[in-house]
Amino acid sequence: MRMYDLIMKKRNNFEHSKEEIRYIIEKFTKGEIPDYQMSAWLMSVYFNGMTKEETLELTNAMADSGDRLDLSKINGVKVDKHSTGGVGDKTTFIVAPILASLGIPMAKMSGRGLGHTGGTIDKLEAIKGFNVSISEDAFIYNVNNIKLSLVGQTGNLAPADKKIYALRDVTATVDSLPLIASSIMSKKLAAGADVIVLDVKCGSGAFMKDEDSAKELAKTMVEIGNGAGRKTYGIITDMNEPLGCKVGNALEVYEAVEVLKLKDLDNVDFGIKRLLEVSLTLASYMYMGAKKYEGEISNEENPSGKAISYEEARNLCEEAVTSGRALDKFAEFVSAQGGDSDMIYNPELLPKAKYIVPVYVSEEGYIASCKTSEVGMVSLILGGGRETKESIIDLAVGIDIRKHIGEYVKKDEVFAYIHADDESVIKEAEKRLLGAYEISYEKVEPEKIIKFVSE
Ligand code: URA
Repeated sequence: MRMYDLIMKKRNNFEHSKEEIRYIIEKFTKGEIPDYQMSAWLMSVYFNGMTKEETLELTNAMADSGDRLDLSKINGVKVDKHSTGGVGDKTTFIVAPILASLGIPMAKMSGRGLGHTGGTIDKLEAIKGFNVSISEDAFIYNVNNIKLSLVGQTGNLAPADKKIYALRDVTATVDSLPLIASSIMSKKLAAGADVIVLDVKCGSGAFMKDEDSAKELAKTMVEIGNGAGRKTYGIITDMNEPLGCKVGNALEVYEAVEVLKLKDLDNVDFGIKRLLEVSLTLASYMYMGAKKYEGEISNEENPSGKAISYEEARNLCEEAVTSGRALDKFAEFVSAQGGDSDMIYNPELLPKAKYIVPVYVSEEGYIASCKTSEVGMVSLILGGGRETKESIIDLAVGIDIRKHIGEYVKKDEVFAYIHADDESVIKEAEKRLLGAYEISYEKVEPEKIIKFVSE
């Protein structure tokens, strides 16, 4: 086989065999195919796409390029979630303790991430003492013992994806559906969970700006997951404004705790209603998926499985919140990884910025739209994210948005608070934050928060 012929084949829009895909991935990972040939092949994929079979083989080949996590020492069905990335997304801190409190194990590896805020792992470091790099044995022990552990990515998961992504980033081939789907799913398959729930964000703060492309991505990833024997759901959720009110590392942990403290889910502040809805939907699909998977693998020796409906799963997840059990589980998980659980019961103890500055609109009206990625940029300006891998994150800074699409804001009402440690960036942050929003005289309805479910 020669890479030259394979590039020509894809360029001329023919379908690769499984062996050809494996050849490309294995040889490129070993450094035996040069970047210029791989770039030409990626561009051919960008223009001509891939069939379902090619995409599945590409995903499996990338998942096989490094270690696959062995979760067999963990009892029960393992569930995982993945978000395609948005602004203010703190659902993991809500979903994981809900599931763990219901007895479903979550063994989660998360990244640090480049961008407007840190990744899940950075956010957890806002909790004093929290250790994101416990040993593999401690990780497994915690999941078996309290059903939840969350650590930074270790090992050598899908190194082919890492190499290919770096090349896509500099050759304008990131936004190709089969390449995105296989990239995300190769890491999820290598991470070993039996049930995978994908939160595919759609809107101004997401990779996928419109609903049709988000649906197509979700459908492709669900096909890959199910094709690889994992129960997979794709939930398309709105990202036309930040999720919830708070954007920033400690601020997002704070807001997740606020949700876990809710006692009456019918009377929830407008600002966190959408965050609650996304979290409960993801958790319910994860729970339902776990029970379905258990049902499918149950037999006379293992009769535990009993499939349940979405509504039954949803009721259990809601009760996990209102009973306080999910909050207790979050505190237990924090303690088990060396963190100060007082910060969970009393989030006022989380790191606080030096300046908390109210922001007002210059013309009153209804909030009509938001350039969500601009709000992410404000967080970056304040120091809450990383511009390069070496940047140091300020865990205390961020934005607390008090008014959301569809709400009326008066001139003398606080529209948002900026949390800053560096006084010199406040003016610019304020200007960009206000510039990200459009205000209208007419009432505007917010987009539906859950747009579509692919299964
Ligand atoms: N996230 C990934 O991991 N890969 C992509 O290609 C895009 C988003």
